[in-house]
Amino acid sequence: MKLASFGTRVDEAPFLKAWAERTGNDMQIFTETLNEETVDKMAAGTQGITCLQTVPYSAELFKKMAAKGAKFLSIRNVGLDNIDLAGAQAAGVRVSNVPAYSPSAIAEFAVTLTMHLARNLGQVEQHLRDNDYNGAMHYMGKEIGQSTVGVVGTGRIGREAIRIFKGFGAEVIAYDPFPAKDSDIDYVELDELLKRSDFIDLHVPGLPQNTHMINADSFAKMKDGVIIVNTARGNLIDTKALLDGLRSGKVAGAGIDTFEYEEQDLLNLEKHGNFNDPVWDEMMKMPNVVLSPHIAYFTATAVHNMVEFSLENLTGFINDGVAKNEVKYD
Ligand code: NAD
Ligand code: COI
Repeated sequence: MKLASFGTRVDEAPFLKAWAERTGNDMQIFTETLNEETVDKMAAGTQGITCLQTVPYSAELFKKMAAKGAKFLSIRNVGLDNIDLAGAQAAGVRVSNVPAYSPSAIAEFAVTLTMHLARNLGQVEQHLRDNDYNGAMHYMGKEIGQSTVGVVGTGRIGREAIRIFKGFGAEVIAYDPFPAKDSDIDYVELDELLKRSDFIDLHVPGLPQNTHMINADSFAKMKDGVIIVNTARGNLIDTKALLDGLRSGKVAGAGIDTFEYEEQDLLNLEKHGNFNDPVWDEMMKMPNVVLSPHIAYFTATAVHNMVEFSLENLTGFINDGVAKNEVKYD
């Protein structure tokens, strides 16, 4: 089989090469993202493409892919928001994604941020960096096992986060408009979750209707001293309202892996330097805020699975005409 990989990160290349060697397939590896120009680099006879990028896949790209004979696009991540699916359908290109490469990777990261904030480690570290050992000793923490944790979104990642928080002995309450059937999850309405939770953890897709689902009104309903963690999508929180909450002390801490104004070409951030954003800069200075550059997914297990599951989908399309995770066009 002749395949091509675009948007290949250095951490993925060894997994792609190992797969090609193991299976005896021919794989061209490009670091560039896939677009109307870079698609021309692909060798004649390439049957399918595996790709990871957050920039758009356009209708024009799909036309060019199809004209070159590559009828399958297998993305290595979950999100479909940057794919012109109507364009893919019109060009006769079939698409697959990897809906669950490692939900634990993201859930564990959310719990890590929660624990860091619960024990005020940012403030402690700042005092120590300033040689103020005494000042570092005055931050009394909160125990997760003695707290109420509100998990918003109980899909693959949210359910894994609930399992871990319950392991600490926390009281976990959850909100999801589509509750998981036959689960022992304690569902409540969103308002009740906002009122009762010491920690709030978001695992909801960034659909347009979820934009700013956490806003000034939501913060007003929360407990004083609430801690909020977002490893899902940046648009879920109205960041200006969060900043007001942090400035006033209403919000005791925030863990933000997915920042509202993150770069669209997220995985190539080194090309852009930094966010160059005043809100990011202000939050960076706050020791009770942990910011990370959308890396909750980034573990060896997840990267391995993103590559392997994507290639399983691609070879399924080519060999059997069926991919386990084919994306429906509607
Ligand atoms: P999933 O589709 O399995 O679950 C999402 C859940 O959210 C569903 O149960 C859905 O009913 C629920 N939901 C939708 N709208 C809601 C709302 N307004 N309020 C409450 N619940 C709502 O998805 P998942 O695999 O659990 O992933 C969740 C999100 O995590 C993804 O959509 C993605 O945005 C994000 N993610 C982030 C990273 C990262 O590296 N930071 C990596 C992978 C996924
Ligand atoms: C996803 O898979 O949806 C992510 O958020 C991570 C990806 C952009 C690498």
